[in-house]
Amino acid sequence: MKPLVIAGNWKSNKTTAEALRWLQDFKRDMTPISDYMRVILCVPFTLLYTMKEEVKVKELPIILGAENVSPFPEGAETGEESARMVKDLADWVIIGHSERRKNLGETDDLLFKKVVQAKEVGLKIIYCVPDEKTRIPANVNIVAYEPVFAIGTGTSDTPGHANEVCKIIKNKFPATPVLYGGSTSPDNVVSYIQQSAIDGVLSGGASLDPEKFADLIANAR
Ligand code: PGA
Repeated sequence: MKPLVIAGNWKSNKTTAEALRWLQDFKRDMTPISDYMRVILCVPFTLLYTMKEEVKVKELPIILGAENVSPFPEGAETGEESARMVKDLADWVIIGHSERRKNLGETDDLLFKKVVQAKEVGLKIIYCVPDEKTRIPANVNIVAYEPVFAIGTGTSDTPGHANEVCKIIKNKFPATPVLYGGSTSPDNVVSYIQQSAIDGVLSGGASLDPEKFADLIANAR
């Protein structure tokens, strides 16, 4: 059995009350997560402290991640969360999501700076790329292939094509798990994780609903 990663990305969603409700419902719906599966849930900065406490109290088998980190060291950078501040609350961080590349103009150079900052404090990185040609820093922990046409559209990449792209990435970084992301659901998750070069999924929309996310995990299991 290959080790699997199921990651969630809440994007810019949920108040604290909504996040607490989600945890409550997720605990109720969750089937036990097996030893060879890691569940990493990436959430907005505003929720990390409360969720960290609650995950501990409820003993949920969830690892928390952030969705962004500053490219700068700690200091005079208004509105930025430095890597050291993020590491205080999370073990993982998403870098390079295509929504930030597109809507905020984040370039490979900027993203590489974020990777340097994250690595310096021991944050683990899920590095997102929209295709096999995009540059990937050598020292990231997980790569997520997320084709832009599939994100939030309900039109996912075919498992076969996703596998081809993940295979090219894996050939460059043989020791790094590669995930597929883009309109994944409880219904299609198995078709992706069955592929030889795909080690799990990064799920946006489906992770917002605790029942759906628990179903996705159960089906992957
Ligand atoms: P989606 O988002 O599952 O809603 O398509 C995936 C992502 O952007 O990480």
